[in-house]
Amino acid sequence: MKGVILAGGSGKRLSPLTDYTSKLLLPVGKEPMLWHSIRQCYLAGIQEILIITSANIVGQIAKSVGSGHKFGCSITFRVQEYPRGIADALLLAEEYTGEENFIVLLADNIFEYSLHPYIQEYKRQKKGARILLKSVADPQRFGVANIEGSRVTSIVEKPQTPSSHYVVVGCYMYDKKVYELIRSVKVSSRGEMEITDVNNQYIIKGELAFSELVGNWIDAGTFSSLNEANLFLLKNNNIILKQ
Ligand code: G1P
Repeated sequence: MKGVILAGGSGKRLSPLTDYTSKLLLPVGKEPMLWHSIRQCYLAGIQEILIITSANIVGQIAKSVGSGHKFGCSITFRVQEYPRGIADALLLAEEYTGEENFIVLLADNIFEYSLHPYIQEYKRQKKGARILLKSVADPQRFGVANIEGSRVTSIVEKPQTPSSHYVVVGCYMYDKKVYELIRSVKVSSRGEMEITDVNNQYIIKGELAFSELVGNWIDAGTFSSLNEANLFLLKNNNIILKQ
């Protein structure tokens, strides 16, 4: 299975830290944030990785990660010309992933444990999509899952009044049908093609499964969560890398 790491975005919420550098190169623990996603891929047995990023930061990103050799991986780059959202960026992976199922990681997401078990579950699932849910105290910051019984019936992006505490974390597993579904979604009110709309299409088809994520998870996109991620990895990085 191949991995796609989405490493674009302006990181506006972290200005001025991100005025001259990519959010994904800010230190988290002892390494740049992006390295965490690459190491997660490697730990999960994924050695072929596509990094999708923006034109203004692709140089810095390539300088930081190189060919992937130092991680035991082979890294390819693609540039998303305009910031039109996660789903739009993912379209750039179509040729790279071809017929295969693949995993997508958002590069500002930090996970306590290896994602390997969830990938194994997805391999058994074989087709459709699989997402990971985590119960959090501040669901309105994320895509929130409406759950009935043991089913996710819909996902709402950043609702003001969330219907549950279960949010969609930045790790998605897809089959090649995802590209057709992305092309069917419309641009949202925030001017983006939302990955949540794509996942809702899988729900309508009855092809979206989920696992509950075990362990800590941090979306390091704000000052306080960046600080939290930094402290967490400083304390735990050695454990994570040895999993
Ligand atoms: C994105 C997704 C959201 C998800 C989150 C996880 O939000 O749109 O559904 O819960 O990543 O980090 P964004 O970080 O683009 O605001």
